[in-house]
Amino acid sequence: MTVSAGQSLSRLDPEPIPRRDVLGLFALWSMASALLFATGGMLRLPKAAVLPSPAKRFRTVLPATLQPGEAFVPPGRAVALFRDAEGTYAISTVCTHLGCIVRPTADGFECPCHGSRFARDGDVTRGPAPRALSWLAVSLRGDTIVVDEEATVPAGTKVTA
Ligand code: FES
Repeated sequence: MTVSAGQSLSRLDPEPIPRRDVLGLFALWSMASALLFATGGMLRLPKAAVLPSPAKRFRTVLPATLQPGEAFVPPGRAVALFRDAEGTYAISTVCTHLGCIVRPTADGFECPCHGSRFARDGDVTRGPAPRALSWLAVSLRGDTIVVDEEATVPAGTKVTA
């Protein structure tokens, strides 16, 4: 609103906002927005883009109801644990064909991907898997079993307390 000469402002008229103040407010708002977005971006940086894989060495306890020769697969692990009269042992459930996770069955293991079958000791009974399932290093600490998924042992290696 322009006020011409001789015209006076009423006290009810809104006070004009100088253009310089409007530009200053806009600059201040822009700076605050940029600072807010930069802070938000910096807070996101410390998060890892790739989650670490679980440790290959883990502890577990066999269920008290586990029968001799029955497989126990700890949740989230590609290992089948067994206990029989000769000791405790672990067999990897990673198929030696293309790496699918095999399922324990009553007479061994079967692979859901291409149909390979393995005996209870991990030997191949039907292809296309080229070789037996790996036996893994196991150690006992009381009731706790420590399994190292990266350390293979000769087939038939069992540990006793
Ligand atoms: S991945 Fe197991 S049979 Fe192919």
